[in-house]
Amino acid sequence: MGKDKIRIRKIESVKDETPTIKTFKVFDPPSAKSDPGQFLMVWVPGSGEIPLAVSAVHDDYIDLAVKRRGSTTKYFHELEENDKLGIRGPYGNGFKKPTEPSLLVGGGYGIAPLRFLHQKYAEQAQIHVVAGASTEQELLFLAELDPVAVSTEDGSRGIEGTVLAPMREVLSEVEVKTVYTSGPEKMVRGVYDICINKEVKLEASLERIMKCGVGLCGSCLIDGFRVCQDGPVVGLDQLKEFEEFGVWERSFSGRKERI
Ligand SMILES: Cc1cc2nc3c(=O)[nH]c(=O)nc-3n(C[C@H](O)[C@H](O)[C@H](O)COP(=O)(O)OP(=O)(O)OC[C@H]3O[C@@H](n4cnc5c(N)ncnc54)[C@H](O)[C@@H]3O)c2cc1C
Ligand code: FES
Repeated sequence: MGKDKIRIRKIESVKDETPTIKTFKVFDPPSAKSDPGQFLMVWVPGSGEIPLAVSAVHDDYIDLAVKRRGSTTKYFHELEENDKLGIRGPYGNGFKKPTEPSLLVGGGYGIAPLRFLHQKYAEQAQIHVVAGASTEQELLFLAELDPVAVSTEDGSRGIEGTVLAPMREVLSEVEVKTVYTSGPEKMVRGVYDICINKEVKLEASLERIMKCGVGLCGSCLIDGFRVCQDGPVVGLDQLKEFEEFGVWERSFSGRKERI
């Protein structure tokens, strides 16, 4: 079966992670073989289809950590064990395998693909983690990831503000050759600026509106680059070429809007 054909799957279990994020465990061997950073197009019957990262793999099962935001994710959160959803993919590229001391910098549900990277490679390379969220309650996967630093926007845990301040601190204290990041584009832009300044390599997962996921519709374009097909993970050299990165994004209707 080709990866573009929708596979109808049953939800094995649902777990509340934070007040706005739930993990859905689903049997799907093709996704379980994906690389961390690749994404799936997940169809919620009766609602819509959205791009999601794999947040962990357990044999032939995957975890999807889903943040409730708009109509589709609200509907998603109402699904229960044994309910069905459709999956196609995995799509896009993944993060490069970490072979040198690395730092994962994740904001909000952006930590999801980094958790899978950590799960797959933490025993093979030295990997540090910095995690951020809006509040303490919204911090994800702390027990597994054991971050060296956390930040919250309201200061309820760790450093008050974004992940950028703790990231700077960690980079000045421990040896890091590559940073891996995923989160809101403004945060990723800040991570990029620090990496340029500190001369550290970067693997960044970009988030854009994705309607088709396979390079056809153009909804995910950033300076002509198709994030769904040629990303979502991009390196420093590619990011340097983007004029829209961290400045402009496209709305669902395709209109360019300032971030
Ligand atoms: C590669 C990739 C991986 C992602 N991984 C995760 C993940 O692991 N967990 C998670 O909770 N979310 C993830 N997202 C974001 C998720 O796709 C959006 O939150 C979701 O599509 C919102 O849909 P909605 O109908 O609930 O919200 P809407 O009401 O449609 O919109 C709410 C917000 O979501 C954005 N959005 C809407 N549709 C899309 C779309 N098709 N693609 C991207 N953004 C959209 C809009 O810009 C808006 O800001 C990922 C997005 C991408 C591109
Ligand atoms: S989502 Fe359609 S071209 Fe990328």
